Amino acid sequence: MSVILAIESSCDETSVAICNNGKITANVIANQTIHENYGGVIPELASRVHQQNIVPVIQQALIDANVNKNELNAVAFTKGPGLLGSLLVGVSFAKSFALALDLPLIAVNHMHAHILAHFIDEPKPQFPFLCLTVSGGHTQIVLVRDYSSMEIVGETLDDAAGEAFDKTAKILNLPYPGGPLIDKHAQKGNPIDYKFPEPQIKGLDFSFSGFKTAILYFIRDQEKIDPDFIAKNLNDICASVQYSIVNILLNKLKRAAKEYGIKDVAIAGGVSANSGLRNALQELALTQQWNVFIPAFEYCTDNAAMIAIAGYHKYLNKDFVGQDVSPAARMEF
Ligand code: KG4
Ligand code: ZN
Repeated sequence: MSVILAIESSCDETSVAICNNGKITANVIANQTIHENYGGVIPELASRVHQQNIVPVIQQALIDANVNKNELNAVAFTKGPGLLGSLLVGVSFAKSFALALDLPLIAVNHMHAHILAHFIDEPKPQFPFLCLTVSGGHTQIVLVRDYSSMEIVGETLDDAAGEAFDKTAKILNLPYPGGPLIDKHAQKGNPIDYKFPEPQIKGLDFSFSGFKTAILYFIRDQEKIDPDFIAKNLNDICASVQYSIVNILLNKLKRAAKEYGIKDVAIAGGVSANSGLRNALQELALTQQWNVFIPAFEYCTDNAAMIAIAGYHKYLNKDFVGQDVSPAARMEF
């Protein structure tokens, strides 16, 4: 028997989930809208809002799962990577809660958890598989050998794919986070109207900083010709940028699958919610004879259900940490 309460607070979502014997029975997410006006997450504001949200979110999760806090067997939490102030709220709360209820503590790596979100529902991938993990802070191709044995075989040398979406949105005067808005406009646009150069990075690594600059210069030049360029062509610009980012990601994933001789391929992280990426991966799976694993929308962006499932597998191995645990803004894989 295991009933695990899990806390996620690495960025701007305060989330609490309950995992009952490997099944998610609650997953409450409080989004922070305060950052919309600033074009990005303001760390100081994020930690303050986590502080306000954490108790009501815990209470709601216990109600949703129909569980009393005295029935819990462990407390899992995101140790990192993430914003230090945000992590501190979740880690401190988890430690106090575990101390008060005399429960073991489970520290979870946020990036591992994005990948392990594939073990919440069926179909579950078989080990070993490759996972393209694309979020606001990371872009990685990970060789997943086991619940705890994961190797990064390619990653971004600078910006993450999520940042490329969010920064493009900013250039186009769309609010933060821009990824979902680019996706929405892209669905009404022509993906091959504008061409952006594919970064020439060797091996399985990525780079998005030059790509972002290319978009900035392209828009600046077009606006010199027509000041209303963005307004007139928003859907086509979004569709073309999205098409380019998806191509960059999938070309490397294709290469990785060949190099490692792996046919089970997954995507994870916030950008895996992107409709262009999801559709293109399904199409690629047909030509490459891949079995693809695409998370449900609710498990793409940050959520505590993924922390709970990762915590459950650690619980089975009695992989606990002491009260001296600290958050880690950067965390080795
Ligand atoms: O995994 P996540 O929620 O947080 C981090 O761990 O960073 O990822 C957030 C990122 C943001 O950059 C956001 O713009 C992007 O995921 N994102 C999307 C979509 N939904 C979220 N990007 C493109 N299309 C989407 N539909
Ligand atoms: Zn994340």
